[in-house]
Amino acid sequence: MTLKRRKKIVGNWKMNGSTVFARTLVSDLLEQLSPALTEQVCLCPPMPYLPMVAEALGQSGVSLGAQNVSSYNDGAYTGEVSATMLADIGCDHVIVGHSERRTLFAETDAIVVSKVAKALEQPGLTPILCVGETREEREAGQWQAVISRQMQAVLEGIDRAGVARIIVAYEPVWAIGTGLTATAEQAQEVHALIRQQVAALDSAIADSLLILYGGSLNDQNAKELLSQPDIDGGLVGGAALVAEKFARVCNTLAEVG
Ligand code: 13P
Repeated sequence: MTLKRRKKIVGNWKMNGSTVFARTLVSDLLEQLSPALTEQVCLCPPMPYLPMVAEALGQSGVSLGAQNVSSYNDGAYTGEVSATMLADIGCDHVIVGHSERRTLFAETDAIVVSKVAKALEQPGLTPILCVGETREEREAGQWQAVISRQMQAVLEGIDRAGVARIIVAYEPVWAIGTGLTATAEQAQEVHALIRQQVAALDSAIADSLLILYGGSLNDQNAKELLSQPDIDGGLVGGAALVAEKFARVCNTLAEVG
């Protein structure tokens, strides 16, 4: 039996914004977002703006996420931010293993697993695990191997109850910030493969697993991508920085169910 999954749109601001930007974006967004959909939307501003954005979001129902978390507990780790701190300031989501962190900050699969584990120690924190292949890997026909390796690390390193709480985001590296979106067919193929891999562990978890697509997702292509059977929402970068565009992407959820 296939479960009806509640789709989600996550806005990843990356390292962009300011206090004025954050305040304006949140207030414009709340004006334009369909009230019935707020609980399916999550904003991930840079760390310093998290408390401010939390306050601006108030009781709107929109979730708050961080873009990274430490793989360590609180203590002598200068510059790091722990999962306990994120939970403490009201985050309910955290992006883990974004390709920019994997490539620019040398996060290995092992580090990503330990970050997912730390997030899961907080009962109210949902890790959004990013996976995806580079252009070279796709052209070399290695995308399946790369994605299944990234997924397998987490499926082996995290217990079943933990896996059941994870959201996966497929972000082909070649589509991030390039304007080159994966076609709906390409993305659907990968999402179905990810779901199959999780089903080999537990079919009920696979049925309820949210798998988001990210990579030049915008208000023009959202409807087609989000209509695919295994695409359960989006992780939006550039288009999340413009309230009108992001609201339109989110409001697409009303059309795609
Ligand atoms: P863009 O939407 O700018 O391609 O970024 C995608 C992304 O990396 C979101 O995490």
